[in-house]
Amino acid sequence: MSETSSSETESARLGRRLRLGMVGGGQGAFIGAVHRIAARLDDRYELVAGALSSAPERAKASASELYISPDRAYASVEEMVEKEAGRTDRVDVVSIVTPNHLHFPAAKLLLEAGFHVICDKPMTTSAEESAELVEIVKRTGKLFMLTHNYTGYPMIRQARAMVQDGAIGKLRIVQVEYAQDWLTEPLEQTGQKQASWRTDPKRSGAGGCIGDIGSHGYNLANFVSNEKPSELLGELSHFVDGRVLDDNVQILLRYGSGAKGALWASQVAPGNENSLRLRVYGDKGGLEWAQEDPNYLFYSPFGQPTQKLTRGGNGAGDPAQAVSRIPGGHPEGYLEAFGSLYNQFAEVLSAHILGNPAPDCAALLPSVEDGLDGLRFIEAAVASSSEGGVWKRL
Ligand SMILES: NC(=O)c1ccc[n+]([C@@H]2O[C@H](COP(=O)([O-])OP(=O)(O)OC[C@H]3O[C@@H](n4cnc5c(N)ncnc54)[C@H](O)[C@@H]3O)[C@@H](O)[C@H]2O)c1
Repeated sequence: MSETSSSETESARLGRRLRLGMVGGGQGAFIGAVHRIAARLDDRYELVAGALSSAPERAKASASELYISPDRAYASVEEMVEKEAGRTDRVDVVSIVTPNHLHFPAAKLLLEAGFHVICDKPMTTSAEESAELVEIVKRTGKLFMLTHNYTGYPMIRQARAMVQDGAIGKLRIVQVEYAQDWLTEPLEQTGQKQASWRTDPKRSGAGGCIGDIGSHGYNLANFVSNEKPSELLGELSHFVDGRVLDDNVQILLRYGSGAKGALWASQVAPGNENSLRLRVYGDKGGLEWAQEDPNYLFYSPFGQPTQKLTRGGNGAGDPAQAVSRIPGGHPEGYLEAFGSLYNQFAEVLSAHILGNPAPDCAALLPSVEDGLDGLRFIEAAVASSSEGGVWKRL
């Protein structure tokens, strides 16, 4: 893996910060602010342009609060593309942090106009759009990163490397869950912004909870296990009256290798905040990780006591160290993991701009193909459930 903090980095060779634009993420939005922190954490980007809101006045006011100059505070992504394309200091890369239904049109427009793209998940609202996006990325030669941010945790990188190195032997069981409770009551009926679009199929897509957090669990399980399921059987439910999209999801997974898996995602499980938890077991041992205590990875070689591996400390090797910033015992968390994706993507972008080969870390970053996998997973689960629980190929 490339070292990302030495003076020999591709970013250092580029000799300037990457110019970042943002679509969505205006006043009152959630994840846009997280992306901005992530982008600044390692000082590789500067936010210079934005189309930050669907309401032009709010877009301008939001830009002003972020010190974006008025001539680069745009009312829409279309205006951003048109005006930025004519500048010599045009943005290098644009982050898309709008509700799901706007990811595809914004990404298509930006890529085809020559901008690199960072996009939040789920990548689009259909597998058909996602397949088209894969083709657009190939055709334009522009770079694309999907922010499945949990793959940026040091102990998740460690777990993936341990599975690759045979620490758990041949994979048998994958158990992943992502439980929340914030939609236990009909929050969308109060007009709450984040709940409103997430429960609306026109803006969220065919999946509710499965797209919002199930897609993270699915991606994380694939990343760590180094395998992708070949079939699934799902039951998608909604427990809250009046809700049309799923708020609870139970899925069985079958792997071509013979491994078996299960995924539970829920937004109606009281007591759970962001309880993303992954367990993988093979014929030689098991690994367990929980994002609410992410600096630790539990490793159980069969027949021996369980070992607690710590980020920055005992048992964590180069894969974890490459995305750690501070010594063990000082907690790193969600923002740092998000920042590590931005930091490594800065390396990849800088190398690309300089005409250099992609650094090794490029292979670890969530890709447009991962986005397509996510949409195939969502659509297969929706179809499986609506047909009464039948196995569907992925
Ligand atoms: N990776 C993660 O951990 C994570 C966490 C939360 C959300 N997300 C994803 O991020 C995206 C945004 O989620 P959120 O919770 O921040 O939503 P949000 O409702 O808080 O924010 C969405 C923002 O997009 C803006 N917007 C809407 N239409 C627009 C348009 N036409 N042009 C420009 N801006 C527009 C809104 O004004 C708002 O500022 C979603 O796709 C969601 O799935 C990812």
